[in-house]
Amino acid sequence: MNCHGAGGRGDGPAGKMLTPPPADLTGPKTKAKSDAEVLKTIREGRAGTAMVGFKGQLSEQETSALLSYIRSLSK
Ligand code: HEM
Repeated sequence: MNCHGAGGRGDGPAGKMLTPPPADLTGPKTKAKSDAEVLKTIREGRAGTAMVGFKGQLSEQETSALLSYIRSLSK
């Protein structure tokens, strides 16, 4: 992952130039977010950040699989 990094820690090469930086998906902030909130961010992105929404590019199944993957990172 160019932004969030191979391990999802927000340390990807492209992320270094971004403000705010990509979220550390392995950290307590993301862990504290509900599944609905995380899915919303993946689908719709986050205004004011480089996080774009992937609605239309990812199927619902792929989006749910990404949620499970993100959750596995903070286990
Ligand atoms: C399929 C690919 C991606 C997934 C699944 C993903 C997932 C996420 C999630 C779940 C969050 C919210 C985390 C939280 O609030 O704790 C987030 C935030 C963010 N992501 Fe991504 N992301 C992806 C691709 C990218 C890319 C390509 C970029 C850079 C161009 C990026 C940059 C960011 C940024 C800047 C934030 C906001 C951090 C903040 O609000 O402080 N993401 N991402």
